[in-house]
Amino acid sequence: MHKLRCILVGAVTPMLVMLSSALCSARPLTDPATQREIKVSARKFTFTPKTITVARGERIKLVITAEDVDHGFAIKEFGIDQEIKAKETKVIELTPDKEGRYQFSCSVFCGDGHAEMIGELVVTGAPTPVAASQMKVTFDPASPGVVFVESAGERLRIDTSNKTVDRIAEAETRATKGETAQVAKKERESSKAYEPYDYHVVNIPTPKAVRRHSLNLHFTHRFQEQITAVEGEEFDDHIARISKDLLGLDSSSVSSFGVTYGFTDRLYANVYRSPLCQPGLCKTIEIGLGYHWLDEAGKSPLAVSTYGSVEGDHNFTERYTYNLQVMIGRSLTKYVNVFFSPAVHINANGGDRFKEFLAFQPLAANLKLGEHSGSFGFGINARVRPTTSLLFEYTPRVGFKLGQITPVFDPTLGRITGFTNDSEAAIGFGIEKRIGRHVFSLTFSNTQTTTTARYNSSNLALGPDHFTIGFNLFRRIL
Ligand code: CUA
Repeated sequence: MHKLRCILVGAVTPMLVMLSSALCSARPLTDPATQREIKVSARKFTFTPKTITVARGERIKLVITAEDVDHGFAIKEFGIDQEIKAKETKVIELTPDKEGRYQFSCSVFCGDGHAEMIGELVVTGAPTPVAASQMKVTFDPASPGVVFVESAGERLRIDTSNKTVDRIAEAETRATKGETAQVAKKERESSKAYEPYDYHVVNIPTPKAVRRHSLNLHFTHRFQEQITAVEGEEFDDHIARISKDLLGLDSSSVSSFGVTYGFTDRLYANVYRSPLCQPGLCKTIEIGLGYHWLDEAGKSPLAVSTYGSVEGDHNFTERYTYNLQVMIGRSLTKYVNVFFSPAVHINANGGDRFKEFLAFQPLAANLKLGEHSGSFGFGINARVRPTTSLLFEYTPRVGFKLGQITPVFDPTLGRITGFTNDSEAAIGFGIEKRIGRHVFSLTFSNTQTTTTARYNSSNLALGPDHFTIGFNLFRRIL
């Protein structure tokens, strides 16, 4: 169906219809001569003008200039998301087809006030002359000589061969339905003008892009004390224990930190140090490179990044593990984002090193742990307030599963007969608060380890069903 602009409104006779449709095809709605140009300037952290008012069906051309640094211009409802490089100008053509007030926002991180860099596109009802001229004329491809004319919610079927004019009642409802479906699809395509989540859920990484020339600091703390009930612990004792130690915040913690630097908006490097691995303290340093392939915007239904890293124990001097990871993100609604971040961890237990501490035990040789791991991180970030999200993640593994090694004692023989490795999928949940360049997450997880090869692993000291409290701090410093 073609949208046509017609000048002819009046008595409908077959002759006139044929004449008007001929005129219509000569003057389609996309006539550039009728386009209105609106200049918009973008600078930290405001758009000028802040409010743009247009009429429904009006063809407009937004000429947007980034006056100082890189900015973006996005209107979710119209599937618009454009990046405007510093000192450059971008032209966005738009014909708003629905009335309403639509927020436009900056979609490229440009500093502390980025989140407040918004404005409003007001689409008013089409003025009467435009409405009158919005007559749709279509031909029936099946029967030559049949013309459909649609105007002001009325639809006429005109058969020029037998000179009949019929009014079609259901035309309006049918047309409206089609339009709604199209709008819904458009909104889904561009449900995200920027990633409304942090670089990690609790432990699993998201495909969030690291901004060009940005330096970011990342801290994680995982406390020692189990906040879930210890086996055989009475409810009252449990509550008394965790309140005495303030949910474990009084216990010792594993504190790790790292920095991330964006070379471009896509390529970034990451260095991270964590004292804990397995067994005990092994001062792991992880060095990695990541690449951001896709934003969930425009035609891409997913946000995708990849990451490769090497972890070496004792300050990167020995026992290396190699990680390859894909991070995939997708918004389910405006507020809910889901993630899938599978990874392979090569040499995760190279040389069976996680049994080193059992070396004196001949029976340990019977315990088979495997050499490499695969992990499947599923995560969800659900925004409950504009800057607050609830977090949940679940990470099962295959291959080598780090866990709690327990001796098996046979009471009839009166001696240890072997060892078992107890391990469960890593689970984490928490609450995330974003304040400008700062993100804070209070977390609960059944693992204290946070490097890529280990975040999905239990601890030796903690059983796999033991949850501890922790937090993540993320801060952009440059
Ligand atoms: Cu301007 Cu973000």
